[in-house]
Amino acid sequence: MDTHCSVDIGIFYASTTGNTEDVAHLIAEQLGDVAHLHDIAHEGVSALGNYPCLILGIPTWDFGELQEDWAEHWQALQNMSFVGKRIALFGLGDQIGYGEWFVDAMGMLADVLLERGGELVAPWSVEGYSFEASKALNADGTHFVGLALDEDGQHAETAERVALWLDEVCKAFEKI
Ligand SMILES: Cc1cc2nc3c(=O)[nH]c(=O)nc-3n(C[C@H](O)[C@H](O)[C@H](O)COP(=O)(O)O)c2cc1C
Repeated sequence: MDTHCSVDIGIFYASTTGNTEDVAHLIAEQLGDVAHLHDIAHEGVSALGNYPCLILGIPTWDFGELQEDWAEHWQALQNMSFVGKRIALFGLGDQIGYGEWFVDAMGMLADVLLERGGELVAPWSVEGYSFEASKALNADGTHFVGLALDEDGQHAETAERVALWLDEVCKAFEKI
């Protein structure tokens, strides 16, 4: 365990086949006691309001669609305010199998959070990925809006990507 952050962090995720869940647990392990894990399939999204700093994990399913538990709570999310919150996103996808929709759901989530006043932190470079299109890119296409992970094709990269990204997340969360 390697604690990077001193602020309390809510980690919210949902996962159909367990990949996003595994990464959420890896992140929580690395952050230690400051991390509070929430599976939205069981808990919904209302506790998002309890934390000024959030890490949200979302996989993309069915050709650019939201994962089913995120979809179930989408309306509630659209009615929440994220003003004053710093939010880091991680998205799971498969750039070879679904390269036209790579981590699209992370982009859809980013759009809602920004519309509702949230501040997104820790974008992640597209270097090292190969895909055709993604809704999760920033305006100039050089970065994803959060950490993109591909457990199907690049599992070996995940641990290092998570560790490097968490350094950036914590720097952003600690800023006054
Ligand atoms: C039927 C199916 C559809 C998928 N659609 C997409 C997609 O549109 N875009 C993408 O990036 N990944 C897609 N994926 C890959 C998943 O996002 C990836 O396997 C992810 O790790 C699953 O996360 P989970 O285990 O947390 O549900 C798809 C996978 C399957 C099996």
